[in-house]
Amino acid sequence: MNTDDVVRTFLDFYRERGHEPITGSTLLPPPSDPVLFTTSGMHPLTPYLKGRPHPQGRRLVNVQRCLRTTDLDEVGDPTHLTVFEMLGSWSLGDYGHPQSLRWGYELLRDGFGVPHEKLSVTVFDSDLQSLDTWRELGLPVEPTQDENWWSNGPTGPCGPDSEIFYWTGDGPPQGSPTSDPRWVEIWNHVHMRHDRGDDGELVPLRQVNVDTGMGLERLVSILQGRGSVYETDLFEPWMRLVPPLWDLDERSVRVVCDHLRSTVVVLGDGVRPSNTGRGYVLRRLVRRLLTVLRRDDPSRTLADLPVEPVEHTLDHFRQPLGADAVRDVLGDEERRFDGLLERGRRVLSRPEFRGPLSEEDYRYLHDTHGLPRELVAGSLSEPSPDREL
Ligand code: ALA
Repeated sequence: MNTDDVVRTFLDFYRERGHEPITGSTLLPPPSDPVLFTTSGMHPLTPYLKGRPHPQGRRLVNVQRCLRTTDLDEVGDPTHLTVFEMLGSWSLGDYGHPQSLRWGYELLRDGFGVPHEKLSVTVFDSDLQSLDTWRELGLPVEPTQDENWWSNGPTGPCGPDSEIFYWTGDGPPQGSPTSDPRWVEIWNHVHMRHDRGDDGELVPLRQVNVDTGMGLERLVSILQGRGSVYETDLFEPWMRLVPPLWDLDERSVRVVCDHLRSTVVVLGDGVRPSNTGRGYVLRRLVRRLLTVLRRDDPSRTLADLPVEPVEHTLDHFRQPLGADAVRDVLGDEERRFDGLLERGRRVLSRPEFRGPLSEEDYRYLHDTHGLPRELVAGSLSEPSPDREL
C-alpha cells in the first residue's frame, strides 16, 4: 500500500460507517486560537467537541496536518517528525467509546491487514468499559493512569484514552507498551467527556465525544514494512537525494530531511520567517537544520538542494506554492545565517573567549548573539583561511 491507498482505505472505512469527510486544513489555527500551529486533528474541532452543532453532522473523519515543536528533540529517531499528518475520526455526542475501539480494531486487522498478535493496548485504569471491550476482542491490555489521559493543553476538552501499539521488534512480541519501546503507539482513541477550566477544575462536557488520531507516517512505515518513517514513499525523494549531497550520519540525514520537508509545508501554508510567532518557529527550524549541515563543513549550502523533493512535498500537501519561492526563502535565510556566523566569529575573537569556554559563555553567546552551541563548539572555533580570528 502506498500512502494514498492508506489514506483512501481509512476515509472509505469511516465513510461507509456514516462519517462525513471534513477538509483537512492548514497548519494555521483560526485567529482567535492562542496556539501558533495545529498540533492535533481535534484542534480545529474544539468548539464542536464542546457542543456547538457541526454543519456536517455528528460523525466526522479527516486527515489533518500538524506541527509539534514539543517533539523536536526526538526528531531523527524512527518515528517522530516535526510536521506530520493525523488520520482522525470523531463522534460528536453520537456513538460511544467501545464502538470506536471495535471499529479501530476492525480497520487495522481487516482493512490494513495488521496481524492481531502484533497489537497491544493501554487503557486508563478506571475505564472498565474499554478494558472489557479490548478483552472481548482478545488483545493484551495494560491499565495505566498518567499515560492514558489526553488533553490538548492545560485547559479545554480532555479525557481518558486508550492507545493502540504495534510491535516493531524482531521475533515475537515481548513485554508491554510501557516496558518495551519496541511497542510503538499508532492510534489514540480519546473518550473526550471533560472540559478543564481556567481554574483547573474538570467539568463534564455537554456531550460525550470520541476523538481518535493515528499518525499517518507511522502507519505507512508499518504497512510498508519499513524500520522508520523516513524509509516510506513519503520521504522517498528526500532520502534518495539528500545523502549523496552532504556526507552526514544517519540521524543527521533524518533531521535535515525532516526540517527541510517541514519548512516546505509551513511555507506552503503561507508563513514566512520572522522574529516573532510562527515566523520565528520557521526561522528556528531553518537554523537548526543549517546548524546540523554546517557543523562539520561550513561550505555546505542549501543552494545545492534539488527541486524534486520540494515539489514532491508541495504536491503531496496540495499546496500551490512554487519550488522557486521555497528556494528563494531558503536562500535569504541562509544569507542571514551567514551574517550571524560572521558576527559570531568577531565576538569569538575577543580576548575573553580565548581558551576553553564555560557554560556561562555558551549561554551568553546563545542568548545575546543567537549563536548555536553546536557551531560555537564546532566549525566556528576552527581556524579557516577567510577568518578574522
Ligand atoms: N487528539 C488525540 C491525539 O492527538 C487523538 O492523540
